[in-house]
Amino acid sequence: MAANLIDGRAIAEEIHRETAARVAALAARGATPGLAFVRVGDDPASKVYVGMKERACQRLGIRSTTLILAESTSEAEVLALIGRLNADPAVHGILVQAPLPRAICSARVFASVAPGKDVDGFHPVNVGKLMLGDPGGFVPCTPAGIHQLLIRAGVPLAGAEVVILGRGNIVGKPMAAILIQKAPDADATVTVCHSRTRDLAAHCRRADILIAAMGVREFVRADMVKPGAAVIDVGVNRVPDPAAKGGSRLVGDVDFEGVRAVAGHLTPNPGGVGPMTIAMLMRNTVQAAEMQS
Ligand code: GUN
Repeated sequence: MAANLIDGRAIAEEIHRETAARVAALAARGATPGLAFVRVGDDPASKVYVGMKERACQRLGIRSTTLILAESTSEAEVLALIGRLNADPAVHGILVQAPLPRAICSARVFASVAPGKDVDGFHPVNVGKLMLGDPGGFVPCTPAGIHQLLIRAGVPLAGAEVVILGRGNIVGKPMAAILIQKAPDADATVTVCHSRTRDLAAHCRRADILIAAMGVREFVRADMVKPGAAVIDVGVNRVPDPAAKGGSRLVGDVDFEGVRAVAGHLTPNPGGVGPMTIAMLMRNTVQAAEMQS
């Protein structure tokens, strides 16, 4: 039987409606949420992502500003800009789009954002709050969005065997932290696999929920998936395709057609995780504005 497809676009719209109601409540108190994007350099994917996030702000009545800095900008200049945004009361949230140019230390930049404006959830204070289960922090948008996809698609989490492929700071590690919490809508048993994991396929085959976020195109094949498992594809891999517009196309970390025949739930890609990342960013921004207003 073919997997149920988890419609990330529809679930993201549901979250946007909830966020829009919170924006209206803030407006009734005379407050408009403000989000500042900082983009350094010319990474083409970053331009697309920031553009999509700006459009979401516009739709929801969140005031956004985008500060574009040249590839040659020094770390000190980026830190000075963030210092000004931290002090600006009209800016409730700050997002520094990754990746940053090599000469700039991302960790220092992320740590310079005021924790109360860190809508990406990358500041050490927010990372710590997530580990501690403190609901007063910000949770990184992609794993928070995957969590909502699982909850709203009705995938049971308590006691579930979750296998995460990828141990990055943006997806893998915070995803594990969310799902191991002793909390309703969590309580899972989580294994994080990575490039040094032995017999990765055997881990995958145990998973009730398999989250692929390692950035290897179509890595997860049908024979790595337990029948009926929920499979979440976080991958965004650009591959050459002379037949496609622009000579390339995007593929995920999951062999969609093969896995679809085995899985119980599967996210399409595009149309799965991507829209949820944006929905959670909008939600975090409104949370920031509520906390500051
Ligand atoms: N680059 C890829 N994903 C993200 C994200 O969630 N936030 C930021 N700031 N940059 C990213």
